[in-house]
Amino acid sequence: MADAPKKPKFDLAKFITEGQIWKSMFRHGYTTSDRDRSLSVLTNVFFHLHPVKVRKSGARFGFTWCAGGLSFFVFLTLVVSGILLMFYYRPTVEYAYNDIVALREHVPFGIMRELHRWGAHAMIITVWIHMFRVFMTGSYKPPREFNWVIGVILLVLTMLLSFTGYLLPWDQLAMWAITVGSNMARATPFLGHEGPGASLLSIGDIQLVTAGSDVRFALLGGRFVGAGALLRFYILHCVAIPTVVVILMAVHFWRIRKDGGISGPL
Ligand code: HEM
Repeated sequence: MADAPKKPKFDLAKFITEGQIWKSMFRHGYTTSDRDRSLSVLTNVFFHLHPVKVRKSGARFGFTWCAGGLSFFVFLTLVVSGILLMFYYRPTVEYAYNDIVALREHVPFGIMRELHRWGAHAMIITVWIHMFRVFMTGSYKPPREFNWVIGVILLVLTMLLSFTGYLLPWDQLAMWAITVGSNMARATPFLGHEGPGASLLSIGDIQLVTAGSDVRFALLGGRFVGAGALLRFYILHCVAIPTVVVILMAVHFWRIRKDGGISGPL
């Protein structure tokens, strides 16, 4: 008796990658050729911020120290742990301190808060190292001057994220650190109440600068560190500054691509 014809083996991987759903998302084959590898970067909204080709010498750890990549990675960790913290933390004078204590004591190892806190320290360090590397390799020179400027703004925003986060535990350290910090802002030229610019804002005997019109008052939402300041710092820390940082990071990465990829050793 003749054998029955063999049923073709079901190939799950083939079934998925040749189906309409997969093909509607990915318009290239498996990344086995240079063409497919390039297409996988070009046709992906997240990848296409990166250069399609990176010079091997430029991507060397010894050249970049991976400090920019590490800054981005730590930032992502901070976003994820920060969102988790937002589920439990209430930015009011009544609850803020107790919520932070609870997050430390009732969560194993206080993991979410510690990740966020140590991550913040780490990001400050990695961003400075990255800037130092870019300076030492002369990667700020044309055509990369614009990206250097974007970088400087990112550095300032990273520090502002740390500064605004500092108030949120609402403990003695937070209160007095922000009191000192905001008093320094008070002495800012032009924007501060006591800065040299303040004298320019007067006509004859009339002072145009009042207690409510300097940068300290705007920052604190009042004359002292209180409920208004806590809410302002919370919104600056969780929404306003991260939004600007994300937009500028996208510009930073896109710009690396437009400037011909990572500079690479000369
Ligand atoms: C949130 C902070 C930042 C992030 C996430 C970030 C990320 C990156 C990444 C991933 C790269 C690719 C090469 C590398 O990893 O070294 C890069 C390159 C670069 N970054 Fe940043 N960066 C940040 C802040 C800065 C700062 C503070 C500066 C300088 C003031 C800067 C200036 C540059 C320049 C000029 C390049 C091109 C370097 C080259 O072509 O060799 N960045 N950045």
